[in-house]
Amino acid sequence: MNSFTFFSPTRVIFGKDAELNAAREIKACGGTKVMVVYGGGSVVKSGLLDKITRQLDDEGIPYITLGGVKPNPVVSLAREGVRQAIENGVDFVLAVGGGSVIDTAKAIAHGTANPGIDIWSFWAREVVLEKSLPVGVVLTLSAAGSEMSNSAVLTNEEARAKRGLTTDLNRPRFALLNPELTYTLPKYQIMCGIVDIMMHTLDRFFTSVLGNELTDEIAAGLLRVMIKNGPVALENPSDYHAMSEMMWCGSLSHNGLTGLGGVQDFATHQLGHELSAMFDVAHGASLSTMWGSWAKYCFPKNPERFAQYGRMVWGITEGSAEEIGMAAIDRTVAFFASIGAPTCFTELGIGVQPESVIGELSDRCVFFGKRTIGNFRVLDRDDVYKIYTMANR
Ligand code: NZQ
Ligand code: ZN
Repeated sequence: MNSFTFFSPTRVIFGKDAELNAAREIKACGGTKVMVVYGGGSVVKSGLLDKITRQLDDEGIPYITLGGVKPNPVVSLAREGVRQAIENGVDFVLAVGGGSVIDTAKAIAHGTANPGIDIWSFWAREVVLEKSLPVGVVLTLSAAGSEMSNSAVLTNEEARAKRGLTTDLNRPRFALLNPELTYTLPKYQIMCGIVDIMMHTLDRFFTSVLGNELTDEIAAGLLRVMIKNGPVALENPSDYHAMSEMMWCGSLSHNGLTGLGGVQDFATHQLGHELSAMFDVAHGASLSTMWGSWAKYCFPKNPERFAQYGRMVWGITEGSAEEIGMAAIDRTVAFFASIGAPTCFTELGIGVQPESVIGELSDRCVFFGKRTIGNFRVLDRDDVYKIYTMANR
């Protein structure tokens, strides 16, 4: 096996009523003044926000609230959160929502612990983040995995840039996971969640660093569980079993476990982020739009790895490595289509784009020539241009 470091400090409380532990967990983390962060209103409508603030009232923990986080969360709202958090002496940030809310909470925690530094400078890699406030999570959407991940993704609306920041300071202190809180999700978000959860493992499985048998088995098992339960969850969002499998897959798919010993690829994520930055499309939808084109383009680099994926995840055994590998790509794309996930630009709803837009997406994706993306196959601007072109139909 290859060497690795595994750090996953998030205390997970999973199951019905998990959210009732919020006040107790905040106290255990030493929180004395809380900022509760939430989104566009789903948690107000469902009564979850009330349930949380009532606990804080009952336990005598003072708090302020910040709502209005939107999908593809923006740095301007996070800056406003930092301003309010500093003004009110906040020492703990509680996210009640999905990935966008959690990432905003992480950004607010970083900014509040570092007054005087503009938070975007951490995302722009101009300043290294060295301290933050503790963050806790009450999860309402199984998708991004931010509840256990070392990542936070923000959009700078002025620069039209969507960037991730990777640091262990992004790992929440606790995550309260009650699958029942996801019953109210629109089907489109469940679909996006299925794709994102699968992609966090696929973007790790396809790595140039091979030979980690247990890691591969964990990855394949997680993918199989998603392929089985995702469609059930989509069909019936109040199926506790399906929603709970999906929730735990979501957390484990992005806490590092499914890629231990490998080197993350994440090219599909980088390709997708540019689509979200330019067209404000949902994250999961951007990934299913790009994966098939990425896979077909990168296939020649290691057909045997795709064949392994086909055997372990899709149970395809007949044929040569090339045949099994290609069949596995087709099965994956067909699976995305079967759950209503887009697999090209027109299905994503942005239409066929002119060459100039493909060029701009490609330039932005490689930071105007300052980086390559991917690890399974390292991709430069030309490669990225070709992959976008394949999806541009
Ligand atoms: O804003 P509200 O009203 O709450 O509605 C949200 C939002 O419109 C709704 N929603 C959430 N829970 C609900 C609900 N509606 C009804 N019932 C519920 N229980 O769902 C919509 C989407 O929410 P959002 O948080 O944007 O979705 P998701 O969890 O997919 O997060 C996506 C964001 O996370 C980033 C993505 O790039 C994107 O910005 N990611 C973060 C990662 C990380 N930090 O580790 C990794 C991922 O790869 C991803 O990049
Ligand atoms: Zn993702």
